[in-house]
Parts: sequence; structure tokens; C-alpha cells
Amino acid sequence: MKNDPAPNPTLDAMLAAQRIAFAPVMFQVARVMRNRGVLRALQRAGKGGRTAAEVAQDTGLSAYAAKTLLEASLSFGLVELPGGNGDRREGQGGRGAREGEERYAITRVGLVVENDRMTRINMDFIHDVCYEGMRFLDEAIEGGKPAGLRVFGDWPTVYEALPELPPKVRESWFAFDHLYSDSAFPKALPIVFERRPKTLLDIGGNTGRWAIQCCTHDPDVRVTILDLPGQLEDARVNVEQHGLLGRVMGTPIDFLDHGQAFPTGFDAIWMSQFLVCFSEADITQILRRARAAMGEETELWILDTFWDRQENEVAVHCLHGSSLYFTCLANGNSRMYSAADIKRCIEEAGLTVDAEIDHLGLAHTLLRCRRRDVPAGKRA
Ligand SMILES: C[S@@+](CC[C@H](N)C(=O)[O-])C[C@H]1O[C@@H](n2cnc3c(N)ncnc32)[C@H](O)[C@@H]1O
Repeated sequence: MKNDPAPNPTLDAMLAAQRIAFAPVMFQVARVMRNRGVLRALQRAGKGGRTAAEVAQDTGLSAYAAKTLLEASLSFGLVELPGGNGDRREGQGGRGAREGEERYAITRVGLVVENDRMTRINMDFIHDVCYEGMRFLDEAIEGGKPAGLRVFGDWPTVYEALPELPPKVRESWFAFDHLYSDSAFPKALPIVFERRPKTLLDIGGNTGRWAIQCCTHDPDVRVTILDLPGQLEDARVNVEQHGLLGRVMGTPIDFLDHGQAFPTGFDAIWMSQFLVCFSEADITQILRRARAAMGEETELWILDTFWDRQENEVAVHCLHGSSLYFTCLANGNSRMYSAADIKRCIEEAGLTVDAEIDHLGLAHTLLRCRRRDVPAGKRA
């Protein structure tokens, strides 16, 4: 029996650093292995695995391509050599395998890359929306502008660009946005509708997904969406398809024009995955405008993903990874915030948080806010 090698923290750190150095290569290899059916073929083969020649046959890849991808994937953790001891320098590759005919089996990580929906959507978002633009991160942090957005065209933020982005980019953007919001909306609905609001203002309502769900959940509610004109047009089409044009209205607005007041008279105001789109200074201003539109009874609901409220490292990693999309592609000045940062903005805007619910959906927290000047006893 071989002894395990002595721990070597320097070597471990060197390996972790090389994973960073080669991360874009590793990412593209994983994506191609997924998209070209290599991972699928290996999953079908099970523990026994497939040779590179067999994978080439399964997928239509050249023998060179199959072997290159599989060999690199040994180091990237997507495949392993079954029957060996994990040390590929010893020339194993399935007991009895002839040199050059090693069998490759999919690892647990490979199975996640192939099958996990969140991983697939995150990878598509990074490839289609972020990958090319991230080269301009340096410039983005220098100027506080989304310098990477130029790979798609000339807009001040991604939100003006959204209606005009190429179809595949839009598809990956919406899949990413909806993956997270869809996981939380059904859990949030009964909480927001506990007091049966008759009117709801959906701030940054995007394609109307939440507005439509509100109307399906409660036949009496009417929803007004505030958003940019391009998004309101998408929302109008969706709302019409659901036969809800009479109950969902859209009002165009630029939230960065702090002179524009919000409409008043709503029982509830809703902001989902919205404050992440703005700098802390703008968030405070937007919340002040929301406060000015609130009556004594109005409840302001904030649904967002805060990295300091997560239950596991996977969620924290996803949020920190997504944060730089805001810097480089979206607006140049926002990020995935901590709850502590957002709660400070809420207080500065003259509001107070009177209820907080963590772990809704994949990673969300729901905050209920009131005007601070209205004593709790005065509310119904
Ligand atoms: C990340 S999306 C969130 C969409 C939706 N609320 C959800 O939970 O899925 C942010 C929304 O805010 C809107 N938005 C961002 N900046 C804006 C601005 N300056 N003026 C108007 N709308 C803006 C975007 O158009 C987009 O619809």
C-alpha cells in the first residue's frame, strides 16, 4: 500500500493559482464537452467509460479533438480514468487498457455540468453575455462604466441594450434572470398577498412575469409596471397573451432621473432583483422616491439575493461571480450587495425594515419596509 504524500500547502496554492490562470480554458473545455455531447456519451457509458476513439465515434468529433478534450478534462476534474488510482502518470486508464486506449469515465463534477440546470444557465450566461466583455474589466473599474458592453454596441447600460441584443444573448440573459426570480416568486406571492393589496406598483417589472403571477394569484389586484420603454413593450406582449391587458398597466420611466416622481396611491410596492442594478447612492435616491409615493399603509417589498444571507458556499460563489457582470457589462457601478449594505440604504431613505424572510427560492431574501415616520401602532 502506498503512503499518501505529505501535505504540501505551497503545491496546493500553486495548483489553485493555476486553476485561476487557466480558468477560461477550463470553462470553454467544459462548455464544449457539454455542447458537443461528450459528457452525455460518457454518462451513458457509466463507470466503465469510453475510449477517445469511441467518444469520437459517439459525437462526430475528430479523434484529435476527442482525445485533446478528454486529456485536458482529466486535469479539469470532468473525467477520470476508471480502475486507476487517480494518478495518471502511472499509465493506468482502466485495468488492462493498452497504452493510447485509456478509458475515460465521467466524474461527479462532469455529471453536474451535464445535468444541473443552474450550472447550465450560469455557463450560458457567462459565455453568451459576459465572456468577451469581461476582457474590459480593468477599464470598467477605472471609469465606473460598463466598458465590456461595447462588444454588443453603444449604450450607457445593458438595460437600454436589452431589446436590441442578439437573440442568443437575450435568451441567456433572460434564462439567467428568470432562473433566480422564478424560484422565489411562488414563495413570495402568499406573503405579499396576505393583506390582499388591491393595487401593486412593480418597480423594474421587466417582462411582466411577476405582474402576471400576481393577477393569477389574486383576481382583484391591478398592477402597474414601471420600466424602460423597450421592456414595457415585451411586458405588454406577454400580458396580452395572458388576457390581462385590463389589469396590468405600464408606465415608462428612467429610474436614474431622480427628478421623476413615482406614481402614488398603491397598497404595495414591489422591487425584485432590481436594486442590484444601481449604485448605492442611486439606490438611496430611488428608495426616497418610493417612500414619497407611499401612504401610511403602503408596504414596500424588496426581493433580492444577498451574499451574506446564503446557506452554502455554492450560492455565495454564484453571487460573487455574478457581481462583476454588473461592473463590466450592466452599469459599471453596482454589484451583488450584502443585506447589510441594502438595509443601510433603506434606513437612509427614511424607511424601516419590519419583516425579513431569508432562503426563499434559490437564494432570495424578502424584506418588508414601511415609512419610518409612521408609528407601528398607526398601521391597520
Ligand atoms: C434585473 S431586472 C429584474 C426584473 C424583474 N423584476 C425580476 O425580478 O426578474 C431589472 C429591471 O430594472 C430595469 N431597469 C434597470 N435600470 C433602469 C432604469 N434606469 N430605468 C428604468 N428601468 C430600469 C430593467 O429594464 C429591468 O427590467
